[in-house]
Amino acid sequence: MNSISDPITIAGTEFKNRLVMSPMCQYSATDGLANSWHQVHYGSRAIGGVGLIMQEATAVCPEGRISYGDLGIWSDAHAQALKPVVDFVHAHNSKIGIQLAHAGRKASLELPWKGGRQISQHQPNGWQTLSAGNQPYYDGDEAPLPLDDAGINKVISDYVDAAIRARDIGYDVIEIHGAHGYLFHQFYSPQSNQRTDAYGGSFENRIRLLVEVTKAVKSVWRNKPLFVRISATDWVDGLWDVNDSIALCKVLKEIGVHLIDVSSGANVPHVKIPAVPDYQVPFAEAIKREADILTGAVGLITTREQADKILENNQADMIFMARELLRNPYFMLQESNTDWPDQYVRAK
Ligand SMILES: Cc1cc2nc3c(=O)[nH]c(=O)nc-3n(C[C@H](O)[C@H](O)[C@H](O)COP(=O)(O)O)c2cc1C
Repeated sequence: MNSISDPITIAGTEFKNRLVMSPMCQYSATDGLANSWHQVHYGSRAIGGVGLIMQEATAVCPEGRISYGDLGIWSDAHAQALKPVVDFVHAHNSKIGIQLAHAGRKASLELPWKGGRQISQHQPNGWQTLSAGNQPYYDGDEAPLPLDDAGINKVISDYVDAAIRARDIGYDVIEIHGAHGYLFHQFYSPQSNQRTDAYGGSFENRIRLLVEVTKAVKSVWRNKPLFVRISATDWVDGLWDVNDSIALCKVLKEIGVHLIDVSSGANVPHVKIPAVPDYQVPFAEAIKREADILTGAVGLITTREQADKILENNQADMIFMARELLRNPYFMLQESNTDWPDQYVRAK
């Protein structure tokens, strides 16, 4: 019987509890560099007792950012700006992962609170986007450039360089962002991949880029905890579905991925998603059972009772919470009697 307060050890790293702060873009960096916003934001959740903080989508190259406000890790200066975040989280007895990301065709966007629309490559803060093919996410947006062989090799080497930097400044987990219609999802979903080369067509070809990147990251990350976030379904009949995801996760397990963070959707616009509490949990459960790999459940999980039930029912191994932890960084302190920072004990 597991509860959210129970520790879990993955690839030799112990997480003091099973609550993960789900990655959430803050759109608050300048030129990809972390600043005091990121220190306070992530630091608060470390003080708040979260077992693993998964840092927001952090771009492996400038053109892989969703917006001009995204974090990046494409140079040593970027790594040095992130190091105080990592060190603070560690000093407060929590663990921190980095979600390595490339937005592909869903890049070059305005900040969400300024409308979130695509910024033309001809405007300030805009750039040419890249993808599997040349279809934009929204009709009428500028077309992405399909990645050629050199472009694919650059994506792989950017991920390797990012993983080395993440390793060297002490991150505990790498999560490869393979979900939400970003670059890898654009390759594995037949909706956005009509390529006729080794990266398109069959299932094996469509998952190839994600698999190659994961292998390359693994080779430098060695045996530290490696997660992949996927979209378990496109929520459209005939496109990517949970059976495809199970097959993908079997391959990822073979390569040495330790945990699948199971999300869904966001590669096909205007799709109706039945977003109710626990709506993605059945996918985490199916992948855990069928691919025999650890999973994280995410999506409208907001209470301890809900989280514990998912763990008790063996539907997932860790619980990723996003918006609830924006509302309440101290969720975990309030839910458990232990691990209060000395400075806060009088408030217990
Ligand atoms: C402000 C915000 C930013 C997000 N940014 C990311 C991100 O960087 N990477 C990612 O994989 N998901 C991102 N998400 C999705 C969340 O990680 C999570 O999967 C989603 O919000 C559902 O969980 P929730 O119901 O607990 O909020 C973001 C969500 C929010 C609200």
